[in-house]
Amino acid sequence: MEKQTKRATDEEVEQAAKLLLEAEYPIALTGAGMSVESGIPPFRGPGGLWTKYGEPPMNGFQIFMADPKKAWEQQLARRDDELFGPLKKAKPNPGHRALAELEAMGVLHFVITQNVDDLHRQAGQVGLAEIHGNFKLVRCLECGERFKWGEVDLSILPPHCTRCHGLLKSDTVSFGEPIPRDALDQCASHASRADLVLVAGTSATVYPAAGFAHEVKERGGKLIEVNLYESEITAFCDVSLKGGAAEVLPRLVKAVTRRRRAALS
Ligand code: APR
Repeated sequence: MEKQTKRATDEEVEQAAKLLLEAEYPIALTGAGMSVESGIPPFRGPGGLWTKYGEPPMNGFQIFMADPKKAWEQQLARRDDELFGPLKKAKPNPGHRALAELEAMGVLHFVITQNVDDLHRQAGQVGLAEIHGNFKLVRCLECGERFKWGEVDLSILPPHCTRCHGLLKSDTVSFGEPIPRDALDQCASHASRADLVLVAGTSATVYPAAGFAHEVKERGGKLIEVNLYESEITAFCDVSLKGGAAEVLPRLVKAVTRRRRAALS
């Protein structure tokens, strides 16, 4: 994964723009690499949190359910650590804004993000599913209702849902936790219509998220990758644009805009 190759050439970016405009229903799948240039470390590869500290227990959800009170106490104590600290300070970068611009241009139809950092939302992305949740939200494990952290009474732990009295948990999906139904259904519905996936800043090692891109490819669709390094999906991609998401995606928007203008003139 770490083998850095040359920067995406203008010809490659042009080819990607051509595929994007030829597609009927392009969507995007994004990961931690999208937010590295916003100051949030990735999980794997160089500078990755898991690379540094080792992967968290694969049964994080079971640990939560075994003692929710203790888990909540630990969660509250962690809100300023190396993972959450940068999340709170981070701002969308030109990569996030480029995807929102492609949506506003009517080119990109939906974004599936694995990121919990809220940055696509802050960049103005409308068609968006946060398949691993959002760190600014708390979710009821019974009815699925989501609340902002500030709306939850944390004087008694673990907190419970004001709608159904179900147990509340951070909206971020822990290892071993099923993906919330509403997010999964949204992703599956848009992926089933897609004929192109723009895969940006993900190692494509975690499922079901990575599976949506493979599903589109198996159906004869196209894959365009934006990544600093090789990933698990590079070999399946029609175009692989090497470089930082905040640098490459704005170039892609420029190429799409130029092609459109040329087509109209
Ligand atoms: N621009 C583009 N890509 C980048 C950049 C950058 N500036 N920096 C790093 N990358 C790439 C890396 O090469 C790697 O392929 O981003 C990818 C990040 O991979 P991971 O750290 O594995 O992140 P992600 O794919 O989002 O992980 C999936 O795993 O740990 C869980 O729940 C967590 O959502 C996460 C999921």
